Amino acid sequence: MRILITGAGGGVGQALLARLPEAHGAAHSQLDVTDAEAVMRLIGDRAPQLVIHCAALTNVDRCAQAPQEALQVNAFGTQNVALACQRVGAALCYISTNEVFDGERGAPYGEYDPMQPANPYGYSKYVGEQIVRQLVPRHYIVRTSWVFAHNGRNFLQRIVGLAREGKPLSVVTDEVACPTYAEDLAEGIVALVQTERFGTYHLTNQGALSRYAFARAILDAHGMAEYPIAPIAKAQFNRPSRPPTYSALQNTFAALIGITLRHWRDALDAFIARERQQV
Ligand SMILES: NC(=O)c1ccc[n+]([C@@H]2O[C@H](COP(=O)([O-])OP(=O)(O)OC[C@H]3O[C@@H](n4cnc5c(N)ncnc54)[C@H](OP(=O)(O)O)[C@@H]3O)[C@@H](O)[C@H]2O)c1
Repeated sequence: MRILITGAGGGVGQALLARLPEAHGAAHSQLDVTDAEAVMRLIGDRAPQLVIHCAALTNVDRCAQAPQEALQVNAFGTQNVALACQRVGAALCYISTNEVFDGERGAPYGEYDPMQPANPYGYSKYVGEQIVRQLVPRHYIVRTSWVFAHNGRNFLQRIVGLAREGKPLSVVTDEVACPTYAEDLAEGIVALVQTERFGTYHLTNQGALSRYAFARAILDAHGMAEYPIAPIAKAQFNRPSRPPTYSALQNTFAALIGITLRHWRDALDAFIARERQQV
């Protein structure tokens, strides 16, 4: 299958490219998805049968500070990609987020639960989802959460980096979701896109926990079990974006076709083992 991956320089894009070496990966420097003509040209020239659209403005605080930019990249950029897919008859796999839900329900969200984003990042990804549904019937929408990737700039790396520098750590206890290893997510996506069972899917590692508990687990697993972390509430953490309180995603539909990801704790161990191998 001819596959094109947008945002191929990012954590998920890199993990996908490693599994799909025949795919064409377009990093941000090669393709800016807000440039409609460039998107049409590249997808027109390559004529992929499937586009896996990973490009996004993922910095949620930046999205909160610049909501128009969030919409430009995550919604308008997705529209550009969707229109180009329509033109060449490609299927589209759009990577979305737990933040399309407001997290107020207190129970895991199913794939077809009503969305209600509570911040500009979530809203921009929600609009992206709607555009994909409207423009490309042959689509997969894959929601995930709290991705940690090798060479990434995610929560995991920030926590370990700050602890190694001896900096004080305070982490929120009232934000709960499912951590997800980019390699496991990529494996799940690769399996899903072979199926032609188009629709909306939740792919995260199993198990949900608070940011605080995840930070504790990360430091414990890195041999820093004694390193202090102050538990705080979101209300005490002054940041531009308001994350959902409880946004665990329940994988019902991928599980029905045999696609599930392992528990986050096993994924964290695998991540650390691979990082150690690379040193
Ligand atoms: N990371 C998470 O925790 C998480 C959670 C839920 C869902 N997701 C979704 O998963 C997908 C992949 O995210 P990720 O974790 O791989 O994040 P990432 O590492 O930030 O990758 C996103 C990539 O998109 C690129 N990009 C940004 N603006 C672009 C533009 N205008 N045109 C083309 N490329 C652009 C970025 O390049 P630059 O860095 O050079 O700007 C980056 O390489 C995204 O759709 C994201 O919304 C991520």
